[in-house]
Amino acid sequence: MKQKQTADLQVKLDDYYQKLKTGEAKKEISAFAPASVTNVSCGFDILGFAIDYPGDEVVLRLTDEPGLKIARITGDEGRLPMAPEKNTAGMSLLSLMNHLNFPYGIEMELHKKMALGSGLGSSAASAVVSVFAFNEMLGSPLSRRELLPFALEGEKLSSGGKPHADNVAACLFGGFIIVRSIAPLDVINVETPENLFCTIIHPHIEINTADTRKILKKQILLSDAVQQWGNVAGLVAGLAQKDYELIGRSLQDVIIEPIRSILIPGFNEVKAAAIKAGALGCSISGSGPSIFALSTDINTAEEAGKAMKKVLNKIDIGSDLYISKINPQGPKVLE
Ligand code: HSE
Repeated sequence: MKQKQTADLQVKLDDYYQKLKTGEAKKEISAFAPASVTNVSCGFDILGFAIDYPGDEVVLRLTDEPGLKIARITGDEGRLPMAPEKNTAGMSLLSLMNHLNFPYGIEMELHKKMALGSGLGSSAASAVVSVFAFNEMLGSPLSRRELLPFALEGEKLSSGGKPHADNVAACLFGGFIIVRSIAPLDVINVETPENLFCTIIHPHIEINTADTRKILKKQILLSDAVQQWGNVAGLVAGLAQKDYELIGRSLQDVIIEPIRSILIPGFNEVKAAAIKAGALGCSISGSGPSIFALSTDINTAEEAGKAMKKVLNKIDIGSDLYISKINPQGPKVLE
């Protein structure tokens, strides 16, 4: 089976190389990959969904000189490394180019359109957008599932070497995902109800994912684990059965949120304001500081957003507000 896959892949690559000679092949491409909300309250490292915006963009250009060069990065205030093997977008693309023995070169421009350390999967969006764009330029020789391990190579750089696949999988596949296992990788897409609107408030403070992982307890009470399993199962069943009340009841995290929320000023008040405005539930997005809430209609999602922002304004913390449905598509090519 593996041999057949490899042979198929080579046929597709040879087709691209042939088209290069005849001038029919794409030599430049632009793509977008979206932000994602992960953990979704009770599902630390195993649940996530993509949203419509913000997201990162990349431009790739084919060059004759083999290897990968990052020519330009914008939107990062000069903070991201230009060396491909140290850069999330660079590392994922480099690992894919090496895997394919790509005989040409690529020049990359990365346009960060979302804040670093926001809890919205900024590094995952960069890791995904580069491998997605490259694969599209070559005529999609690999499936999205086959791209996942390469995107994870980039994501590893920002998580202190131990990757979590929730952001990358949500961003790459779109929709709502479950990471059942990371080794071997087993990611499942869950269908979500039509009327689910996500409000996200991004307070203007920065939290480093690797740091917020270090402060988590290494051991937990069995009684807490039982409660958390109940909520994860309830949330997934609620999504599948379109049972909004069950979704709301299940958006509870007794293990991670109590610890990480201490790092987010005004978290408890923001959460209370979202619930009071009618949201089904509210919790930290990824490792924070962004906070998400889910609602069953756009008006409630907007009211929740206003209420959440008002709390942060009162304590002099600026914020960005995003309202989105769950994005079923994931990354896309920009024309
Ligand atoms: N699941 C990861 C965490 C997501 O909570 O650390 C990081 O954005």
